[in-house]
Amino acid sequence: MLTLEGKNALVCAGSSGIGRGIVNILSEYGANVTTFSRNIEKLNIVKKEVKEKTGKDINIIRGDLSKNKDIVEVVESAHEAFGGIDILVMNYGDPKVDKFINISDDEWKYSIDMMLLSTINLIRMGIQDMIKKNNGRIVLVTSMTTKNPLRNFSISNTLRSGIVALGKTLSIELAENNITVNSISQGFFYTDRLKNIIKRNSDELKITIEEATKNIENEIPMKRFGNPEEIGNLVAFLCSNLASYITGDNIQIDGGVVKSI
Ligand SMILES: NC(=O)c1ccc[n+]([C@@H]2O[C@H](COP(=O)([O-])OP(=O)(O)OC[C@H]3O[C@@H](n4cnc5c(N)ncnc54)[C@H](OP(=O)(O)O)[C@@H]3O)[C@@H](O)[C@H]2O)c1
Repeated sequence: MLTLEGKNALVCAGSSGIGRGIVNILSEYGANVTTFSRNIEKLNIVKKEVKEKTGKDINIIRGDLSKNKDIVEVVESAHEAFGGIDILVMNYGDPKVDKFINISDDEWKYSIDMMLLSTINLIRMGIQDMIKKNNGRIVLVTSMTTKNPLRNFSISNTLRSGIVALGKTLSIELAENNITVNSISQGFFYTDRLKNIIKRNSDELKITIEEATKNIENEIPMKRFGNPEEIGNLVAFLCSNLASYITGDNIQIDGGVVKSI
C-alpha cells in the first residue's frame, strides 16, 4: 500500500499550481509537509485547504528560491517543525519565456539562482538527514523541455536539462546511502503559468484565448491538460517504499506529448 506516514517532506514553490498539487497529495498520503514560496497569503490558502482535506497541519514559511539566505531558513524551519527531511521535492518558479535575444544577463542569473543553485544547495543540506537515516527520496520536477526543447524557452531548456543531469549524477553517488534521485518531465498542466502562456500566444498570434487553448490541447494525444494532482500522485509513488528500486530515472507525465522513445 502506498503510504508516506511518518515521512517529512520539503516541497518547493507550493503556493499554487504544480507545487500546490504535490503538497496536497503528499499530505493525503500521510507525509508531514513543509512548503514555501514568496507569498505567505497564498501559502495560507494552501494550508487551510490541506487542513480541510486531511486534518493535517502543513508547515509554511516565506522564502525565495533565488536567495540562499531564505533557503537556509526554510531548511531550519523544516527541522524545527518536524525534525528533519526525508523527502525533497524541487519545484520552481517561472523562468522568463522569450526569444533568446531578449533575455538579459540579470534574467539568466535570476533563473540560475532560482532553479540550479537552489537545487544544489537544498540537496546539499537535505541529504545530511537522509545519509544519517540511510534512506531518502529526491524528486526534481522539471519539464518536457528536457526532452523536447521549445522555442522561446531557452532558459527552461538549458537549466532543466542541467538539473536532470545533476539528478542522474547524484543517483549514482547516493545509491550507497539508499537515497533515490529521480526527475519528472511534465507536459502541459493547467496552472497560472500555463494560462499566462496561453494569453501570450493569443496576443502574439492575434487569436482568441479559446483558440490558443485548443491549439495546445490539440498537440496532446490525450486532448486535455494535466491536473497538478496527477503529478502529485507520481511524486508520492516515487517517494514511497513501492519505488525503492527506481533511481536515476527521468519520467514523462504529459498525456503523450513527447514522442521520442
Ligand atoms: N504548468 C505547466 O504546464 C508546466 C509545464 C512544464 C513546466 N512547468 C514548470 O513547473 C513549475 C511550476 O509551474 P506551475 O505551472 O505550477 O506555475 P504556477 O502556478 O505559476 O506556480 C509557480 C509557483 O512558484 C512559486 N514561485 C515563483 N517564483 C518563486 C521564487 N523565486 N521562490 C519561491 N517560489 C517561487 C510561486 O509562488 P509565489 O508567487 O507565492 O512565490 C508558485 O507557487 C515552473 O517552473 C514551470 O515553469 C510548468
